[in-house]
Amino acid sequence: MDKQNLQLDAEGNLRHFLTIEGLKRAMLVDLLDTAESFAEVTEREVKKVPLLRGKTIVNLFFESSTRTRTTFELAAKRLSADVVNINVPASAASKGETLLDTLRNLEAMHCDMFVIRHPDSGAAHFIARHAAPHVSIINAGDGRHAHPTQAMLDMFTIRRHKKTFQQLIVAIVGDVLHSRVARSQIHALSTLGVQEIRAIAPRTLLPVEAASALGVHVYHDMREGLRDVDVVIMLRLQYERMQGGMLPSEHEYYRLYGLTEDKLRYARDDVMVMHPGPINRGVEIDSAVADGPRSVILQQVSHGTAVRMAVMSRAMQRSQAVVREPS
Ligand code: CP
Repeated sequence: MDKQNLQLDAEGNLRHFLTIEGLKRAMLVDLLDTAESFAEVTEREVKKVPLLRGKTIVNLFFESSTRTRTTFELAAKRLSADVVNINVPASAASKGETLLDTLRNLEAMHCDMFVIRHPDSGAAHFIARHAAPHVSIINAGDGRHAHPTQAMLDMFTIRRHKKTFQQLIVAIVGDVLHSRVARSQIHALSTLGVQEIRAIAPRTLLPVEAASALGVHVYHDMREGLRDVDVVIMLRLQYERMQGGMLPSEHEYYRLYGLTEDKLRYARDDVMVMHPGPINRGVEIDSAVADGPRSVILQQVSHGTAVRMAVMSRAMQRSQAVVREPS
């Protein structure tokens, strides 16, 4: 079964949310529109709607997280679901229980949705293939493969500022090789029809053939790559996924690829500066830019809750129609 069929039900509705790859433009636009309505909810004094009352959502994070885990929890609570956060280091996973056995046991407790972050690429797909029919799996980042809700909140942030995608030139800068965020962003930007996607990075951190196959224009010089861009997305150096020294030094990396006011001058005057976080100041971005007027980094974080509410509600809408099998 291919990735697209795995995350859609027979009617083409979202069942799981595992990857942007293969999803149609209409579905991405529907998620962005649905997130707009939830953004209004998150700004109210009473930030709750009863959509998922009675449902149980489990956060299962095998890798550290601040933004994604917290906004998934907030999103579930604002949809009135019950939320369980599994403390993975203190769970039976540390005694050798397999991922599948953990899923089976949590399913036996009548949980309805699992939000999974895992260091192995493909972990969310694996779990989705084995999940009970009424259960939805949401990928909160798997290895270097995909981080689809991050890409959607980034698209939400871009649309809020630029209104449409069609005329935009977007540059993704840094450790593209190890970035699940970049991969998901490239699929989303391409499906939503931006004019041009650029990737700017040292040769060691940019799979040129893979980038070209995805229709991405590759640059190794920051000033050339940033010329006339509307959106610049900075990436963290992901040391946890690097094998061996891929850079001469952080100092040299910052000199060539760190985003400073000086380099930003090559972009359009109204350029948006984005970063999925966590940021490393003085490594990939200067504080003056990260905290400056063109930065929307904290807006991205704010939008995470509404976008995750949209994804969860759409996936659960489908699963509400699925009859639970007796346990
Ligand atoms: N952007 C992102 O995934 O951040 P966290 O690792 O803090 O969740």
